[in-house]
Amino acid sequence: FAFTPENRAWAEAQVTKYPEGRQQSAIIPLLWRAQEQEGWLSRAAIEHVAEMLDLPYIRALEVATFYFMFQLQPVGNVAHFQICGTLSCMICGAEDLIDVLKRKVAAKPHDISEDGKFSWEEVECLGACANAPMAQIGKDYYEDLTPERLEEMIDQLARGEVPVPGPQNGRFASEPK
Ligand code: FES
Repeated sequence: FAFTPENRAWAEAQVTKYPEGRQQSAIIPLLWRAQEQEGWLSRAAIEHVAEMLDLPYIRALEVATFYFMFQLQPVGNVAHFQICGTLSCMICGAEDLIDVLKRKVAAKPHDISEDGKFSWEEVECLGACANAPMAQIGKDYYEDLTPERLEEMIDQLARGEVPVPGPQNGRFASEPK
């Protein structure tokens, strides 16, 4: 793994945003960019970022394994669904969403669908409890989900469409400004 020239320039620019002696703090944006480039974070990608920041590999790995946003194994090439399985979402139907993914994507978390497009996992609270149950795909939140809406979203994504993020029933936790 190596950053593309464009990503390398972007990464170097991020590093300069941190005070002298604190450049290693750029690790999260750099890991995220590596994941965006590769689709997931391979050992080679983590090593590449560690080397750029003059960090031991184990320190970079510690960060990569701490956050759910980093995927340490290949994911579906269209969407990786992260379903919140914590209390509010569980009470409001997260298990029904997971059943949809088991049926339409893959029986087990982190397995990739036969067409290579999708994968899923259950994660802890993503801070959108007021609009439970919810899922994250990449940077986007899909809230107030129903099993029917999730099925529809999978079909949309398979056709190359991008479902509009946010509450899926039009409800907002507070009035939009
Ligand atoms: Fe699901 Fe908080 S419990 S977002």
